[in-house]
This record gives sequence, C-alpha cells and structure tokens, in this order.
Amino acid sequence: MTQEVDIVIFGGMGDLSLRKLLPALYRSELEHRFSDNSRIFLTCQGDADRGRRQRQVEQGLKTYLLSGEFNEDLWTRFAERLHYVDLDINDLQAGWTQFAERLDQHRACVRLFYLAIPPSLFGVACKHLAETQLVTPESRVVVEKPLGYDGASANAINTEIAAFFPESSIYRIDHYLGKETVQNLLALRFSNSLFEHLWDSKTIAHVQITIAETVGVEARAGFYDKAGALRDMVQNHLLQLLCLVAMEPPHKLDAENIRDEKLKVLKALRPITGDQVTAFTVRGQYVAAEGPAGEHLPSYVDELGQGSTTETFVAIRAHIDNWRWAGVPFYLRTGKRMKERFAEIVVQFKPVSHAVYDSPLANSLEPNRLNIRLQPEEGIKLTLMTNKFNAEREGLKPVALNLNFAETFNYKAGDAYKRLLIDAIDGNPSLFIHRREVDRAWQWADPIAEAWARGYSPLHIYRAGSWGPRAADDLPAADGNRWFQAL
Ligand code: BG6
Repeated sequence: MTQEVDIVIFGGMGDLSLRKLLPALYRSELEHRFSDNSRIFLTCQGDADRGRRQRQVEQGLKTYLLSGEFNEDLWTRFAERLHYVDLDINDLQAGWTQFAERLDQHRACVRLFYLAIPPSLFGVACKHLAETQLVTPESRVVVEKPLGYDGASANAINTEIAAFFPESSIYRIDHYLGKETVQNLLALRFSNSLFEHLWDSKTIAHVQITIAETVGVEARAGFYDKAGALRDMVQNHLLQLLCLVAMEPPHKLDAENIRDEKLKVLKALRPITGDQVTAFTVRGQYVAAEGPAGEHLPSYVDELGQGSTTETFVAIRAHIDNWRWAGVPFYLRTGKRMKERFAEIVVQFKPVSHAVYDSPLANSLEPNRLNIRLQPEEGIKLTLMTNKFNAEREGLKPVALNLNFAETFNYKAGDAYKRLLIDAIDGNPSLFIHRREVDRAWQWADPIAEAWARGYSPLHIYRAGSWGPRAADDLPAADGNRWFQAL
C-alpha cells in the first residue's frame, strides 16, 4: 500500500538510524511504499548542513545495506525525501517552532515519530511534540528498547509517554517480532492442524530458545555494562519468542487478541526468586581466547576498559504454570562472543510411548524435533526417524524435512525493521508490545536481577568463541536434556 506519511526520526543521524532505520526506509522506497510527497525528517543537534548530512546518510546506506542493494537512481529518489532538522529536544525555543512549521505543511497525513534517542529524553520529546501541536489523530510514536532498567523505571517511561499519546498510538518495537520466521511460527502453529494438536505437555518434552551472537559489545559498552544480557535480550526478545511458542491460539490474529494471549503467558511464567535463582539461572562473562583462525578474541573487561561483573551470557530454566505446559521446561539462552551466530527455537517431542523395535535398533530411536531457525538463514526443520536406505544393515536414522525459506521462496533475508516500520505506518500494532506486556516481563525479570545483585548466582566465566560456561549445560542436563548447538 502506498501511504502519504511524514516520518520524523529523533536521533536521525545516530547509530540506530544509520544502521537499521534508514536502510529499512530505503528498502521501503524500493517497494514504492511512500507517496511522492511523503517526507523523512532526521533531527540532529548542531550542524544540519544538507550536503554534509546527505553524504553521511549515503555513506551509511552503502555500509549497512547488503552488497548490491545500493542503487544510484533509487538513492536520488530517496534522498529527495530527506530533510535535516537542527533541534535541541530539550529546548522548546531552539528549533521547535521552525520544525513545527515545516511539518505542518502536511497536516492530514500519517505522522510517525520515531524516538531513536535515550529513554531519558522520551518524555520531553513527547511533551514538546504536544506543546507545538504536532500530535494529530493520525500520529504514532515508536519507541525502542531499552524501555527502562527495571519495572519501576519502565513504568515511569511509559507513564511519561502516555501523558501525550494514547496507548493505541504507542508502538514499542521488539525487532525480533519483525523477523520472517517469527511470522512463520504463527503460520506453522495456527494454520496446520498437525502441529496444533501436538502442541502441549502430552507430546512436547521441552522447548529451548537460543540467541547466540559472535560479536562482543561493539560500540555500546557504556549502555551494555549497565544493562547486561538479562535486560538487553532476555526480558524482551527471548520472552517474546517464548510467548509466541507458548500462547493459546488467539480468537483472531489481530493486535488485541495476540497481545492478550501473550500477556497470559507472561502472567503464567513461574517466578524465579531467592534460592531458585541459583538453581535455575546461569550467568556468565567472556574471557579472552584464541579465535578459530588463531585471532585474539578480547575479554569483555578488555573491551569495556574496566573491571565489571555484568553478565554477557544468561541461561535460564523457565516454567509456564498453566494447563498446556505443566511440567515442560523452557530453556532460554543468550550470549555475546559465542561460537556461532544463530537464533533458534527447538521443540523437542517426547519419545514414542512403546518401543516396537528390539535392541540394538531400539537404541537408535531418537524423539522427533522441530527446529525453527530465525537466523542467520531462516527455515524450519522437522527431524523424523526413518529406516536407513541402502544400508548394509537394517537400522533407524533421524532424517530432516527441511524448509529453507530463502531457497523455497527465492528471497533475500528479510528486514525486520522494514516490516515493523511499515506496520507502524499502516497502523497495525500486532507485532508491537503492549505496556502490560512490558510490565509483566519486568515483574518476572526483576527478581532474577535482584538476586544476582545480592550474590545468589556466581558469575561464571566462558572463553570467547565458545558455547558459554559449562554450568549452562547443567541446566538441561539436570532433566536429562542437552542444548542443541546448530542445525
Ligand atoms: C539488540 C540488542 O536488541 O539485539 C543487541 O540490544 C543485540 O545487544 C541485538 O546485538 C541482536 O539483534 P539481531 O537481530 O542481530 O540478532
């Protein structure tokens, strides 16, 4: 759909904007998503010289788009939409009036205010938008995580925004929900009777969700050291994925129903407090090691430039206390500087109820497994037991039914931000987080962070480039399970 829209990115020349938002908007331009008179305003403080800023954006696109994606003609078309605004967000006297006049040239269109700025500025940005009467009924505000450091600070931020925007106009991004396979998880669950009938504790033994990264903390050490992996990844991305795996089928696939069902999962998450934090959570931090090509992989402390007890790895054994999932462990795991980059949900089914094969065949039986791969490639793999073909001896062998989205649909890896930005412009909040979800997710994460702060779990070290601390293996091992590392 082609929309007339004015997009304002506060922090328009910042890292998030250059790395993710502008490439996503550029790709939307390629798909003719915007009407001719749609505009993109990039606010920055200080020099808004058009020529200089334009070159910076062009350079950013060349760096962050995939190779071959940058195209001079498309850039010319896209560049015409870009406007640079010198704005001190804090100071209503500095630039806001001129900015309001420029924006008000189009009053009827959709307005998208993207707050790619520190959360400490969210309140004042919204207040000044309201005071300059820029908030129209067709205005939406998009906010990025981190939404707070804990439940209390998240609540304070949400309250500040809510003073100027109704909940229905607030779009809280979790970019994991924009990933193509996440959409496919919903399709897999709710359009295949095969799976829906098997999707509970009668058939499923456990679920594991891993987001492993090979990068360290990169340029965000300051932010990361205050947050750590629990706040940066678990409270949001991992819990959102868990919700989509575990939620009841919504009555309709619309925003209200999807978000209600996700909220019920968050409410049913068993709290992990006190001593249980020691038993059910593992936190780790990477130390220097040699990489696969003999390169030096620095420690977290070296990257940070100072000592720290912040976790760069977390593993948790979670439980959902409801009828469907009683007794099924959900193992969650994420870390920086791990051996490989991948994000995957693994659904491990129970073994067959009666072994018809005698030994030794019976020993080769493995339970079925469904791997839902989010990245780097996107796909779904179902492992079934089959009889070995042309084998010298008869035998059973696990074989995979493999659906690789890139090959099957002949498409390049999707852009989660593009998908979410278009949804926000179209006014579809299904893949955005409701305030109640944010609150509930913090209610579950806060006691873990507090117990860690009181020393309930030791900080385990792991070698950069490994699969994380050994102690993380003990979590599934205590139930007779193990982590699956890669497809
Ligand atoms: C962000 C985290 O939300 O997600 C980063 O703040 C992390 O620390 C990133 O690197 C991972 O996203 P993706 O899509 O690259 O897996």
